[in-house]
Amino acid sequence: MLEKMGEFFDNRLNGYDEHQMTCIESAGEFYPFTAKCLPKEAGVHILDLGCGTGLELEQYFRINPSAKVTGIDLAPGMLDALKNKLPNQDLTLILGSYFDVPFGNGIYDAAVSVESLHHFTKEEKIPLYAKLKDALKADGYFVLTDYFALSEEEEQFHRQELLRLRKMQGIDDDEFYHYDTPLTVQHEVEALQEADFSTVEILNNWGATYTLRTGKR
Ligand SMILES: C[S@@+](CC[C@H](N)C(=O)[O-])C[C@H]1O[C@@H](n2cnc3c(N)ncnc32)[C@H](O)[C@@H]1O
Repeated sequence: MLEKMGEFFDNRLNGYDEHQMTCIESAGEFYPFTAKCLPKEAGVHILDLGCGTGLELEQYFRINPSAKVTGIDLAPGMLDALKNKLPNQDLTLILGSYFDVPFGNGIYDAAVSVESLHHFTKEEKIPLYAKLKDALKADGYFVLTDYFALSEEEEQFHRQELLRLRKMQGIDDDEFYHYDTPLTVQHEVEALQEADFSTVEILNNWGATYTLRTGKR
């Protein structure tokens, strides 16, 4: 049974962190690795797309306690948990979809997203990435850690499955329902490049999880 995106995560809030850290292969490595890829200078401003309970942010604030972070998420319970976990950090939390929330222009030193963007198509991501690029400072960059389809067949299979389940449940609204539809790394890179990001580097990978980095130049 498909559930609306925010409700899906809030319904699993209890035990969410433990589930991520114990059931997702190499989570103990990719969260700290992602945090280490973000700027270490005092007072930098970071945007987190789909911050959830902030597993990547806990790691990041250990490295850079004076960073200022804006996090966007659809799930109010996840954001409350994050606020309670990190009460002393400079955190601005926005409840909403990163497709709808305006990011502003030239504001952020870097952006990050972990395990959130695998729910969306390449076509949905291109305008999102174009908006993200505008939100970064001239030397700003984006670090994406997520899991990817290992073949185009796998990518197609998940997308068709989501459409089949939506039809079966009679869902015809425009809302996001939770179902994992990872792109291939190649399609993710194309989405970033079509949004006019510069060269995309693969910084690391653990099974189907990759960390990509791209910048404005
Ligand atoms: C698997 S969790 C990852 C949370 C956190 N980044 C982590 O790695 O633990 C995915 C998060 O993305 C959020 N999310 C999914 N689609 C979103 C959207 N369109 N806008 C904002 N948040 C979204 C969900 O609500 C959820 O909290």
